[in-house]
Amino acid sequence: PIQAFIFDLDGVITDTAEHHYLAWKAIADELHIPFTRQFNENLKGVSRMDSLRLLLSQAETPVDYTAEQLEELAQWKNRIYQELIEQIIPADILPGIPELLAELKRQGMRTAIASASKNAFTVIGRLKLMDAFDVIVDAAEIKNTKPDPEVFLKAAELLQVEPGCSIGVEDAVAGVQAIKAAGMFAVAIGAKEAFSHADLVLGSTSELTWSTVSEAWSARN
Ligand code: G6P
Ligand code: MG
Repeated sequence: PIQAFIFDLDGVITDTAEHHYLAWKAIADELHIPFTRQFNENLKGVSRMDSLRLLLSQAETPVDYTAEQLEELAQWKNRIYQELIEQIIPADILPGIPELLAELKRQGMRTAIASASKNAFTVIGRLKLMDAFDVIVDAAEIKNTKPDPEVFLKAAELLQVEPGCSIGVEDAVAGVQAIKAAGMFAVAIGAKEAFSHADLVLGSTSELTWSTVSEAWSARN
């Protein structure tokens, strides 16, 4: 039986994936680097520094930045991001998520957040969801970022559940890879074409219900 649901944060619980995009877009514009929403899909779930490297790889004339300059650029992005998320309120929780969390409690499920963000606790605090999850694992607690399974495995370990009896929910390609590498059932939120490696793909969080997920799980097992 299913024991736990482990959620990505940005783009699953709330639309901070959009804030990350806007902050990177501002940096790209300043540096005159072409940066599209389509390319931004590669940055989802990816750490701040790796995202910066990906963004810089799009420059028409590549520049060799020193480690210090890279650090400054990453901090600049973070300042823009933090300013954008100052406005977040509980009403910004994505559709269906509060209902799902309530149903998971009734079903006796354990729940966790597995986020690659160093801002995860700030976002969760602004959403007033501090007590909504049994466990929160953020970037500070892991060495290897998605697509490495570490963050999902760490969450399962802290929840004391079997990875094979856990559902991971993600909006990022790298995130779904991490869930599968952890041996979990992967639910992707997004476009079908992007997630051939997921066990279940849903167009939006409003479709993310206990019955949809548990039926798909039963069909697979
Ligand atoms: C999440 C987001 C990424 C972000 C990463 C690091 O995985 O999906 O877009 O780059 O966290 O976030 P941070 O807040 O630490 O810069
Ligand atoms: Mg995400």
